[in-house]
Amino acid sequence: MPRNLHVLPDAAALAHAAAGHFLTLAAPAIESRGRFDVALAGGSTPKAMNAILAAQPQAIDWTRVRFFFGDERCVPPDHPDSNYRMTRETLFAPLDIEQTQIFRMHGEDEPHAAAAAYDALLERELGAEAILDAVFLGMGPDGHTASLFPGTIAGIDGARRAVANFVPKFGTFRLTLTPLVINAARHVTITAGGAEKAASLAAVLDGPHEPDTYPSQLVAPASGDLTWLVDAAAHPAPV
Ligand code: 6PG
Repeated sequence: MPRNLHVLPDAAALAHAAAGHFLTLAAPAIESRGRFDVALAGGSTPKAMNAILAAQPQAIDWTRVRFFFGDERCVPPDHPDSNYRMTRETLFAPLDIEQTQIFRMHGEDEPHAAAAAYDALLERELGAEAILDAVFLGMGPDGHTASLFPGTIAGIDGARRAVANFVPKFGTFRLTLTPLVINAARHVTITAGGAEKAASLAAVLDGPHEPDTYPSQLVAPASGDLTWLVDAAAHPAPV
């Protein structure tokens, strides 16, 4: 699969590139199918992208976008660690996104029940294959993506669309999309910035295929495309 890698000079340029890519994907989907079904990443990287999108209420018909999540912490939706709360504050509230457009993972529920409910939600809203127009992901310094963490991959049920994944480093469960859904998407984007990600990014992109060590290597869309948006700190030019 050809690798579509874009290296931006700094964090601000990376956020603008991610926001622009979102709109570039959304506009034709809305035009041709009347909607854009997208799963968003959590963590901190999306905050800057979301702020740029939130400042563009006229860029697309936001009422046509349905928002899903790539993963969620097992906390209530108003908890400081909640990916839903972060996204509500930086994107949904500024754009007046209706609750009916938002399909959040219920981090407040018992993890396995919440995962099963999201698995069923994905089938109901997207069909058995759960094909999303786009999945936006981040990557951690350890090479994880969504909540697919090193050393946990063997426990991921490949037949499920969403699972509760126990993450030893946190001593807690996380809710996450599985590679089944991620790799069924029409467009997958991984956005990663910062020097702390340089080593894992090099290993993910150019190292041996070791997905249990570097779960971001699991991202390989079956028929969709994969775009990497990184900054120069995470992907320094070869000397
Ligand atoms: C989460 C994310 C996670 C994130 C990476 C990168 O819930 O934390 O979904 O997979 O994308 O950890 O996080 P940063 O953007 O904060 O570096």
